[in-house]
Amino acid sequence: MGNIIDGKQLSLRLKGEMAEQVKALETQYGRVPSLAVILVGENPASQSYVRGKIKAAEQVGLRSELITMPADVSEATLLAEIDRLNADALTDGVLVQLPLPKHIDEERVIDAIALEKDVDGFHPANVANLWLGKPCIEPCTPKGIMQMIAECGFDVAGKKAVVVGRSNIVGKPISKLLLDANATVTIAHSRTQNLAEVCREADILVAAVGRKHIITADMIKPGAIVIDVGVNRDPETGKLCGDVDTAAAQQVASYITPVPGGVGPMTITMLMKNTIECYLNRVTK
Ligand code: GUN
Repeated sequence: MGNIIDGKQLSLRLKGEMAEQVKALETQYGRVPSLAVILVGENPASQSYVRGKIKAAEQVGLRSELITMPADVSEATLLAEIDRLNADALTDGVLVQLPLPKHIDEERVIDAIALEKDVDGFHPANVANLWLGKPCIEPCTPKGIMQMIAECGFDVAGKKAVVVGRSNIVGKPISKLLLDANATVTIAHSRTQNLAEVCREADILVAAVGRKHIITADMIKPGAIVIDVGVNRDPETGKLCGDVDTAAAQQVASYITPVPGGVGPMTITMLMKNTIECYLNRVTK
């Protein structure tokens, strides 16, 4: 039976290490890193994610600022707030929680965040730098996944990785990070023919589709590492579940991430890491 990669536990350890680092940085540079989070509207999932981010910032000893705006806020008001944070010398990271209400152009909002404060790694110039192999802020979820794979003591080089899902936030960037680690990467998706067959080739299988149990045990190569990025509501129980049928998959995989308690906490932890990175880039410039 495969091992569970406990993202919560790993996050606790990494946050503890970062808390020590932040204390040393405060001594060295006279202030702690600072993260601003903008939440528009009252989407319960977004509210919960943002609460998690602010709580993690407290645990690590970062300064955080939560700015909430009503769902009917104008795009101009939101952009003006981003401009203020971009110009604020004491703010190192700016994050706008997505999704945004329909009347706001998400792309324009992401473009407006100063590149040096883009802790999400969503800015087009950051994305370009990632794909060009230049220094960049790596997006949080893929960054957390790579940490979890490393934690298994698994050497990705030369291995086959299959990523199911091609989103800008997860599928595409995790494919690039796996490629950088010298994996042979296949990007599969809803239109892939013989998905089960493609997945069965994978030494590392990343499921990032957003559909309950799209990955079943028969699609997993014995001994594979399985990373479940899905966050779905089980329509029958109302509970959170992933893209992988975890209980059955655990019988086949060597390592598997649970939902909840796997990739989710690590994403938030990597946001703390990115905030420290942006701070360091700014204070040492
Ligand atoms: N919504 C869902 N995931 C994310 C994320 O990683 N960052 C932001 N800003 N919004 C999200």
